[in-house]
Order: sequence, then structure tokens, then C-alpha cells
Amino acid sequence: MSFDIKSLVAERFGENYELHTQYLNRTLVSVLRTIGFDKCYARAEGCYLYDKAGNDYLDFLSGYGVYGIGRNHPVLKQTIKDTLDLDLSNMVQMDCALLSGLLGEGIAKITGADRDSCFFGNSGTEVNEAAIKFARASTGRNKMLSLKGSYHGLSYGSLSLTQNTNFQDGFGELLPGVDYVALGDIAALETALAKKDVAGFIVEPVQGKGVHFPGVGGIAPNYYQQAQALCRKYGTLFICDEVQCGLGRAGKMFAYEHWDLDPDIVTMAKTLSGGFVPVGAIVTRRPVYQGVFSNMKRCVVHSSTFGRNNLAMACGLATLRVLEEEKLVERSAQRGEQLMARLRELAKKHEMIKEVRGKGCMIAIEFQKPSSLLLRMAWKIFDNVDKGLFPEMIVHGLMAEHRILTQVAGHNMDVIKILPPYTIGDREIDRFVDALDKVLDECGSPVGPMWTFGANLARHAFAVKNGKK
Ligand SMILES: Cc1ncc(COP(=O)(O)O)c(C=O)c1O
Repeated sequence: MSFDIKSLVAERFGENYELHTQYLNRTLVSVLRTIGFDKCYARAEGCYLYDKAGNDYLDFLSGYGVYGIGRNHPVLKQTIKDTLDLDLSNMVQMDCALLSGLLGEGIAKITGADRDSCFFGNSGTEVNEAAIKFARASTGRNKMLSLKGSYHGLSYGSLSLTQNTNFQDGFGELLPGVDYVALGDIAALETALAKKDVAGFIVEPVQGKGVHFPGVGGIAPNYYQQAQALCRKYGTLFICDEVQCGLGRAGKMFAYEHWDLDPDIVTMAKTLSGGFVPVGAIVTRRPVYQGVFSNMKRCVVHSSTFGRNNLAMACGLATLRVLEEEKLVERSAQRGEQLMARLRELAKKHEMIKEVRGKGCMIAIEFQKPSSLLLRMAWKIFDNVDKGLFPEMIVHGLMAEHRILTQVAGHNMDVIKILPPYTIGDREIDRFVDALDKVLDECGSPVGPMWTFGANLARHAFAVKNGKK
């Protein structure tokens, strides 16, 4: 055979970071080296990654929330092989393929009510772009509204909805007519909607950055119901971005079910892919959909060449089946509760844990200043350099000493986020809680390796801040 991928991987394995330094994002390589995430993974299965020596790494990051069903799920692998063996006609474009019809049917079933009209894209940001266009086309209005602290993706439309200057700065002008209101501020929302010029109000029912949602942190539990009612009153479409929190991640098939919501548009991606072929979907009501594809001349007025491709559709169908057959949505809820209960127990021992909050397998651990004078001083120095440094130290400690992948929950916050596969069991929960316990024990000593690493990180961040790196 002229091309042999297995030999290629075997021959070049280990060159990963050199190749990326040379040909891809060398700044990311520097960051990964600094925080000790510069590993070469040879294999993955379920909740674990493995290096060449066979060491296992517990994956509580899940590729930013993609691997709800676990990595390399056998049903997904078999589905891909079977789909290839069928030699189907793919992306004919001027036809109506079976698999996209079936996935549309499957998504309509799980979103319920009269949301029965689907559009497929290739990523989360792409389907949020579609949501903006659908909302504008079907209402004839121009403005969009989103929440402060939100994240909806990084292409221009969804970046404009993403209220975060860390992502927005440096890229020039964003979409005009976008405004933001604070999660929980119902009066500000009404003021913004009352002019009746807002096409859509988009929310992540459980916000990815920081894991915020109504019912915690002083946000009224009925905020979303009130927001949805205001949208109805003023003719604005209520849009739920379920790209991260959907498909079981937050312990329900869709996170909006926690508040009995009835959104006009739902967007999803990540978990739907099964972790193999990128896919995104938007589901809405027929009148909204027809507002876009309103006559024969406009039948492909919004489309994407690779959307609806057979492999992506097959993976979506297989993922829905796996979620159902393995009862993974229920499992996400149950294991998430178990993990949060253990972490709240741990918080009684470690004063640095301020709060544990989450839904299902989407969990935030927020930290706070310690009480001992020396540690408070160290914390203050960190905070002055960069607010996200303390959680970065925890993420490093979990990786360096316990081979567990986690992430900082966002910019300028003392929070780590954990997004484990829904398939975690007692073993994974024990390993994570014990590891965090040990890392926090080490943080209790200002002369231990944790603060030494933290000091190096602070020096590095200080140099970057002052333009020296
Ligand atoms: C809530 C939410 N919306 C949209 C996106 C963007 O998705 P993608 O990275 O697939 O473009 C993400 C990604 O993290 C997300 O969490």
C-alpha cells in the first residue's frame, strides 16, 4: 500500500512537540511545557489516556467536554467501520441522504415539544452562527443579546456573543448590535428587550466559564423562566446553547430541562460527535426554520459543504443510541452528584475550597484565600500577577503528581472545572478526590513543591504581562 498510517504513527511517534513548534502553534507548546502538560499520548479508552510506557492518565477534561460517552467507544468505532464498508454516496449535495434525515428525526425526538426542524454544521461555533442568522431572518430584527461571562465560540458572530475581552481583543470590529446582560439581572433584560428590536437572547443554561447557573451564587432559581417569558412578551427568540452542557453533560439530556424551559432554538455539538467526527446541530420550530429557507430561491441560503456528511451523521446516531442504551444521562446525574458530595466533604477539611457547584458531570471547584499569614501573602502575590494562577497550580499538581487532566474554568477566576466522561465509576471518583486532597495538603505548606511551581508560574506570567516573553 502506498500510504500506511500505522507505520507512519509508529515511525514518527514522539516528534509531536517538535512538529507543533515548527509547523503549528508554538505558543501553545510553550504553555503546555510550562504547566507540565507536554505528554505524548499513545492510546485512549473510556476515561483514560495512556502514554507509551503504559501509564494511565485520568481524563477529567474530556477534550473540553466532548467525551461524554468515553474515548474510543466500541459502538462508535464499529459504526464508523460499517459506514465506510457501505460505500454510501456521500455529500451529493443535490439529494436528500438517509442518515441526515434519521439524525434529524432522532434529535427532534429528544428535544421534544414542536422543535422538529434541524440544521447540521460541523462545530459549536458554526451552529451558533446559524442560530444568529435563523433568529435574524425569522424575526426580521437585527440585534442579539447574550449573557456576561458567556462563551459561544470564536468565529465572528459567536465571538461577538462571547462576552470576554480575552477572546475578543485584537481581532478588530465585531458584529454590530450585540449587547450583554448579567446572568440573574431580570430588570436589565427587560430594559434590553422592551424596545422590541432584539432578534434572539442566547444563554448557556449552565455557563461553561466558571459553571454558573440560576439557583447558585445569588442568582434567582427562576431567572430563566422569567427570561423566557420576557422573550415571548417582546417577540425575541429564546436560544439555548447546549454545545457543552447538552446531551447529558449537565445530568439531563438538555440542561434547559432543569428549569422546564421551552426554547425556540437549541444548539448542540461536542458530545453528539461521539468524539470522532465533528458535528453540530441546531433544532428549532418549523416557522423559525422557514423564516430562513422561505422560498425556492433561498433553499440553500444557509449551508455548509461538509455539514450532513455521512460519517458525522452516523456518529451522531450511534451516540444517541449509546446514551440511551447505557443510560448515560442518568449516570452523568448520579455520578456527578456522588462526586460533588465527596468534594463537599473534602471542603470541610480544606478551607481553600470555597464552593463546589455543578450539574451532572459539569463541576466547578472554587478556591479562596487561605487564612495563614504566609499563605495569604503568597496568594496575594499570585493574585496581583494574574488571578488565574492559583487554580493553574492545582491543575499542574493534579497532572504532575497524579496524572489527572483538569482545566482552569476561565480567565480571572479561582476556579477549576472538571468535565469527566459520564462513564466514571467509584475508582475514578476515589482517585480524583484523593489526589485533590493531597494537592491541597501540599498547598498548605508555603515551602512545598506546589508553591515553588506557583512562584515559577508567577514569574513567567509577570514577564509576559510586562512584555518580556
Ligand atoms: C457553550 C459553548 N458554545 C459554543 C462552543 C464552541 O464550540 P466549538 O469549539 O465546537 O466551535 C463551546 C466550546 O467550548 C461552548 O462551550
